[in-house]
Amino acid sequence: MKWLKAKIEILACLLLVACGTQSEQSTIEPAATGSTYQMMTEYLEPAADKIWDSAGAIITIEGEQDLQPTTDEGWAAVVHSASVVAEGGNLLMLKGYAADQADWLEYAQGLTRAALKARQAALDQDDEALFNAGGEIYNVCRACHNKYIVEAGEI
Ligand code: HEC
Repeated sequence: MKWLKAKIEILACLLLVACGTQSEQSTIEPAATGSTYQMMTEYLEPAADKIWDSAGAIITIEGEQDLQPTTDEGWAAVVHSASVVAEGGNLLMLKGYAADQADWLEYAQGLTRAALKARQAALDQDDEALFNAGGEIYNVCRACHNKYIVEAGEI
């Protein structure tokens, strides 16, 4: 009898999964996939770099060179990077990254807010707005590093 009961329970469980009602009592907990260092260097930094490298101008030997994209594809790539950084703010709140439940979350949310401005600027193909949003992103990176990295240096 015992095994039959177990079997029925398993069957009921499978049915629940199939119907999708299991999710309400799911034990799945989102968690970091690696170290904070990995999150920074493999996920956040490349995307933020793309934003910073796509706004304003640089001075070269040949003179001033605009960095803003010149094609729709170029702007779309910036939109993509801004989405990565924006979602990155959410990801930083995951267990395994979040250093605390206070200021860390504020910085993470600030990152998302600034990156959403960058995304809108890229959607509008607005170089100046993108430059400003890039500055805001930079300030959030620095602020969090100043607080959480003991030897705060360059990003
Ligand atoms: C919520 C806090 C927080 C935010 C926001 C944040 N970082 Fe970090 N970052 C850290 C912490 C903590 C470390 C140290 C990780 C370690 O080494 O364990 C770090 C380390 C880094 C490193 C490695 C530093 C080194 O000396 O090698 C890079 C690169 C980096 N972050 C880039 C960025 C960029 C770019 C942004 C913004 C787009 C950013 N981070 C935003 C917390 C943050």
